[in-house]
Amino acid sequence: MKKNIIFFLAFLLATLRLTADEGMWIPLYLEQFNEQQMQEMGMKISAADIYNENNVSMKDAIVMFGGGCTGELISSEGLLLTNYHCGYRYVQQHSALEHDYLTTGFWAMSRKEELPNPELKVTFLIRMEDVTEQVLKNVADGTPQSARDSIIKVNIKTIKVEATEGTHYEAAVVPFYFGNQYFLFVNEIFTDVRLVGAPPSNIGKFGGDTDNWMWPRHTGDFALFRIYADKENKPADYSEENVPYKPKKYFEISLDGIQEDDFTFVFGYPARTNQYLPSYAIEETVDVTNPIRIDIRTKRLSIMEEAMNSDPKIRIQYSAKHANAANGWKKWQGENKGIRRVSGIAQKRIFESEFQEWADENPDRQAKYGTLLSDFQDNYETQRDYQIAYTYFTEAISSIELLRFAERFQPLVELCSKETPDTEKINEELKELKWQVANFYKDYYHPIDRKIAEAGLKAYLTNVSPEFTPLCLMDAGKRDLNDFVNNLFNRTVLLDQSKITALLNTFDPEQKKTRDNLIKEIEKDAAYQLITAAKTFIDASVVARLKTLTANNTRLQQLYIKAQMEMLPERRFYPDANFTLRVAYGNVKGFQPADAVTYHYFTTLDGIMEKENPEVYDYVVEPKLKQLYYDKDYGRYGADDGSMRVAFVATNHTTGGNSGSPVLNADGHLIGINFDRCWEGTMSDLMYDPVVCRNISLDIRYCLFIIDKFAGATHLIEEMTIVQ
Ligand code: ARG
Ligand code: GLU
Repeated sequence: MKKNIIFFLAFLLATLRLTADEGMWIPLYLEQFNEQQMQEMGMKISAADIYNENNVSMKDAIVMFGGGCTGELISSEGLLLTNYHCGYRYVQQHSALEHDYLTTGFWAMSRKEELPNPELKVTFLIRMEDVTEQVLKNVADGTPQSARDSIIKVNIKTIKVEATEGTHYEAAVVPFYFGNQYFLFVNEIFTDVRLVGAPPSNIGKFGGDTDNWMWPRHTGDFALFRIYADKENKPADYSEENVPYKPKKYFEISLDGIQEDDFTFVFGYPARTNQYLPSYAIEETVDVTNPIRIDIRTKRLSIMEEAMNSDPKIRIQYSAKHANAANGWKKWQGENKGIRRVSGIAQKRIFESEFQEWADENPDRQAKYGTLLSDFQDNYETQRDYQIAYTYFTEAISSIELLRFAERFQPLVELCSKETPDTEKINEELKELKWQVANFYKDYYHPIDRKIAEAGLKAYLTNVSPEFTPLCLMDAGKRDLNDFVNNLFNRTVLLDQSKITALLNTFDPEQKKTRDNLIKEIEKDAAYQLITAAKTFIDASVVARLKTLTANNTRLQQLYIKAQMEMLPERRFYPDANFTLRVAYGNVKGFQPADAVTYHYFTTLDGIMEKENPEVYDYVVEPKLKQLYYDKDYGRYGADDGSMRVAFVATNHTTGGNSGSPVLNADGHLIGINFDRCWEGTMSDLMYDPVVCRNISLDIRYCLFIIDKFAGATHLIEEMTIVQ
């Protein structure tokens, strides 16, 4: 029996090692590693059409949108498409009671009406280059880690300076394969990016948190922006004189739609994955950190939900906070479920015993790699208690809003405490703080926070050993927790909005008296004292140690992946996602998430009507959308079968950051916008399984239908190039 299982697992392992769909590939090497396979899978264009630094290519139509999403150009006038959830905060910032764009949607009917966003920038990749040799110059095999790090730092600085000399470009040098390889990225960054259009929330966020990470999905998750440049078409900060940016390249849009098994690829900025971890790391995630995070968030979310359901005002105050907490909460559950389903830890263990055998085969290898796995094991074992304490601290203590708010005053207190305070810095900090303080009170409801504080403290005190418990929390443990929390919340001055606002408004950085007064008022506050003392303790006794252990793990990983490449020369190793531009490719495909359940590969407007529920915020359908549905007024955007397609799933290997990425067909035409994954397959950040890993994309036809038929913004459609 046991033998059978092992055989089955070994088989699984062999098949899982690398399927056609797995991987986030480096655009620079597509021709070398992927073009042939992509073409065999149906692609009709060439790798050079996708990435080419000497000629215009698709990469010139792609941006990193803000700090963590992707966007693509869709007109010669700088029109940019991304997800609604990526543009959400900008739509929110432009909203007010008298023009609530979240509820009504926003459509600039002329260029003049497009809204600037001072905080938003978009980044184009000009070129990338392997600079490993230059980065590792003067680093010898035996160079100790700290010396190695400083040599690398100096080398990187030189490379960046040389790469951007005499240009307005910016450069970044990023490690790949845990520092076995380094790439230079030369970027062009535009800072005048204006909001052009966004559907109402009940389209752009349809299904809300309930449907998040789920299939079948009906979210119209898109928003439109426009990049502006100076008269020379160069980046410039916002100015009325600026003109729409003329991109080197923009995507043509196909209305042909998709069939099951069609080839698709996704071109964008995936943020982080960890495909090459040892079993001990997966174990830590699945058995230790994920369960802690899920458990605490379950409590936190239900406390929020209870209050949100009791009062619409609280619902508005907490919807973004709830969405944030719920996003990870759901993803980690899917990740754990997925890893268990494929016996992920056992799979890794089998591979590791093969690896050990290979390493022990000759003395040279044994010297280099023989103790790698046992070193990993030691390290993760040592790390465990620290990791538990750290996870509890971040999830259960740092998530108490009052404490996070209190901590927010620390930089200002520190700046004011300097012997010769830098008033310019103080002013900058003050401006930022005032803004955050106003936002805090606007969206704060203390009864929720009190309950969360009590639950969090209880979780920490019951689960973390005294050795890792700050003294001030030990104190709490000696008393009735409810008392402790009430005492803290009643005593703190930080919840007294008028006092704090007055304190900041009368604060004059030039005057020692007001500086001293601010220091005194804040430093004597109970909440401030609690969080600063707790943080100091955690930093010294947990974080510092974790940093060393993480550095050890990275060093081991660097060796481990190098060894794996030696051991499996036939295998194509793609690097983990690291916020750099990548290509993922696969096929449109439904899936079977569970026994007897089959998921179709697309959803339609019929599904929106099925989900409609005027009583439930997430499932309200706009009357206008309903009318279009009843009239079947889909224009040229309807599918051949008469339906209005909304979303589809495919096997492209994506992760966070791929949100907003263009989804392209065999001809390189835009057919969708990536916006999520199915939660059964979120394990793909650690291990990709073609059976359940699916990315979710908005069908471009639904997006155009909303712009054209629903919003009547036909002038935007006219800007685009549509092929049919
Ligand atoms: N799951 C998607 C992502 O990871 C969407 C998140 C935003 N939507 C939400 N309902 N929380 O970014
Ligand atoms: N929604 C995610 C994002 O904002 C993409 C989902 C995923 O993790 O694949 O990037």
